[in-house]
Amino acid sequence: MRAILIVVIVVMATLVTAGAQAPANTVAQGQVTFTRDVAPILQNRCQVCHRPDTFAPMSLLTYEDARPWARAIKEKVVIREMPPWYIDKNVGVRHFTNDVSLSDEEIATIVKWVDGGAPKGNLADMPAPRQFEDLDKWHIAPPDLVEKIDALNKTIYERVNNGVYLAGFATRQKPYERAATRLFQTLDELDARLGSSRYLFGNRMTETDWRLFVTLIRFDAVYHGHFKCNIRRIVDYPNLWPYLRDLYQHDGVAATVNFDHIKRHYYMTHDDINPTRIVPIGPSLDLTAPHGRGEKFSN
Ligand code: HEC
Repeated sequence: MRAILIVVIVVMATLVTAGAQAPANTVAQGQVTFTRDVAPILQNRCQVCHRPDTFAPMSLLTYEDARPWARAIKEKVVIREMPPWYIDKNVGVRHFTNDVSLSDEEIATIVKWVDGGAPKGNLADMPAPRQFEDLDKWHIAPPDLVEKIDALNKTIYERVNNGVYLAGFATRQKPYERAATRLFQTLDELDARLGSSRYLFGNRMTETDWRLFVTLIRFDAVYHGHFKCNIRRIVDYPNLWPYLRDLYQHDGVAATVNFDHIKRHYYMTHDDINPTRIVPIGPSLDLTAPHGRGEKFSN
C-alpha cells in the first residue's frame, strides 16, 4: 500500500514537472504533430479524395477538418483500408511504381499522433496546400454533347463493352466471328478518332471515356485470351494504348484496378470456357509509362 502511494506521488510529480516544461502551445521533443508529420501524409495520400465536393465523406485538408476523425483515421490506416489499394503485398508482385498505399513508417506516424492526443503543432511547420486540378474540369456529359455522348455510348456498349461477351460466350463459330470482327472494326475506328484528340470528345473528358476504359483496362489481361478477342491487343494500338494509360493515371483511378482479381474472376468462373481454371501469368503491362497526351493535344 505504502509502495503504491509512493509510486503515485512520484508519477504525479513527474507529470507536474513535465507539464511545467511543456506549455500547451509548444511542441515537446519527439512529439508527432499534425502540421509537421501528419499533414504531409494526408496531402500525398488522402486529400485527392478527402476534400470538399468530392465523393469521399469528409475533408482532410486542415487540422480542424482532420481532428474529429483522428480515431477513425488511425483505425482505417492500421487495417490498410485507407487509402484504398486492393493489392495483397504478400503475394506476387510487391513493388509498384504507382503504389498509393502508406508505408509502415507513415502508418506508425499516424498511430503515434493519435495516441499522443492528436496535437496540432506549430503552424510554421504546415506545408503549403496541395494544388488540385479544378473539380469542374470535366463533366460526365456537358449539355452541348449529351446527344452525341448517348449515341457513342450505345455503339461502344453494343460492340465493345458487350462485344467481348458476345464473342467470348459464343458457342458457334459464325456468331463468334461476327462479334469479334465488329469489335475490332470499332476499336480501329476509336483508335483513329483518338489520333486527333486527347479524349473521345475533343479535349473534354466525358462519361464515354470511362465506359470505354472499363473494357480497355481488362482487354489484354482477359478478353484477348479468355474471350478469344485476339486480332490485336490494346498495347498494339498507337492511340488506344497511350489513351488507356492517360485514363489510368488520373488521380484515384489506379487504386480501383485490381488485375489479380480481374484475372482470377474471368479465368476461374467460366468452367465451360476454361475448365482447368488455370490463370495465365501474363501479360506484363506498364500502365504507368508516360503517355504524352496532355502535351500532344494541349491548346
Ligand atoms: C481513392 C479515394 C480515397 C483515398 C485516397 C482515401 N480515401 Fe478515405 N474514404 C474514401 C471513401 C469513398 C470513403 C467512404 C467509403 C468507405 O468508408 O469505404 C472513405 C472513408 C474514410 C474514412 C471513414 C469515414 C467514416 O465515415 O467513418 C476514414 C477515416 C478515411 N477514409 C480516412 C482516409 C485516410 C486517412 C486516407 C489517407 C491515408 C484516405 N482515407 C484516403 C476514399 C478515399
